[in-house]
Amino acid sequence: MSNVTKAAIVTGASRGIGRAIAERLAREGFAVLVNYAGNAASAQETVAAIVQAGGTAVAQQGDVGKAEDVAHLFAAAKEAFGRLDVVVHNAGVMALSPIAKGDLELFDRAIATNLRSTYLIFGQAANALGEGGRIIALSSSVLGVNFPSYGPYIASKAGVEGLVRVLANELRGRQITVNAVAPGPVGTELFFDGKTPEQIERIAKLAPLERLGTPEEIAAVVAFLAGPDGGWVNAQVLRANGGYA
Ligand SMILES: NC(=O)c1ccc[n+]([C@@H]2O[C@H](COP(=O)([O-])OP(=O)(O)OC[C@H]3O[C@@H](n4cnc5c(N)ncnc54)[C@H](OP(=O)(O)O)[C@@H]3O)[C@@H](O)[C@H]2O)c1
Repeated sequence: MSNVTKAAIVTGASRGIGRAIAERLAREGFAVLVNYAGNAASAQETVAAIVQAGGTAVAQQGDVGKAEDVAHLFAAAKEAFGRLDVVVHNAGVMALSPIAKGDLELFDRAIATNLRSTYLIFGQAANALGEGGRIIALSSSVLGVNFPSYGPYIASKAGVEGLVRVLANELRGRQITVNAVAPGPVGTELFFDGKTPEQIERIAKLAPLERLGTPEEIAAVVAFLAGPDGGWVNAQVLRANGGYA
């Protein structure tokens, strides 16, 4: 694919917000590596949608919590596109349990998938990107409301925001930005799973805009950070949440 002028990796792009980010970046002219964990058919749907719209994309399986899989993702992007300009670490899991219950298995899963993965991906991105590179991670606006039972999830995303600020400092002088986008509640499987219609209605009404966000609205913020207009935004957490927190 020698005609690729800019290329991006989007983790967790088979569904939800990641899929919207992959499609949006493809419309902005990026060739996109569509990462997924287990849903190969959904990842292929993302790729097909991008290709149908005239873009370039390939799917790549990989567990973002595993070092060898993350290394493979970056190698696959370089091999497919010959370059890498933007890395969006979107893959994540929701993990809810009261702290007093002490569910270590759940805690460790949230930390591995949401935070360990960020450490691994940031490391690879720091080595792979050149001048003008952009690194964007997904945090969450739930850090501003601290609902009971969100401990494992919030702990993992607080770590993500910490790593954003440290990596921005470590990349001093290289003209690479590192930011996070922290969505409020967005209508995806991650949000809907395990919630009653009443809970969904109540949470949707918390923001002054009184509705859930859409994956496309989050993708627009990521595209801003990944594009020329976002060039002076660095080491920030952009809270796109309808005013919820
Ligand atoms: N939805 C919200 O309300 C909301 C709010 C704030 C922040 N966020 C954050 O936004 C991001 C995307 O959330 P979403 O709502 O779009 O979630 P989603 O609909 O559940 O999609 C999750 C995506 O992550 C992938 N994934 C999960 N575990 C993975 C792993 N170990 N390795 C690689 N990929 C993995 C899934 O791949 P498979 O399809 O293969 O399973 C899927 O593509 C997450 O970081 C989440 O924490 C979401």
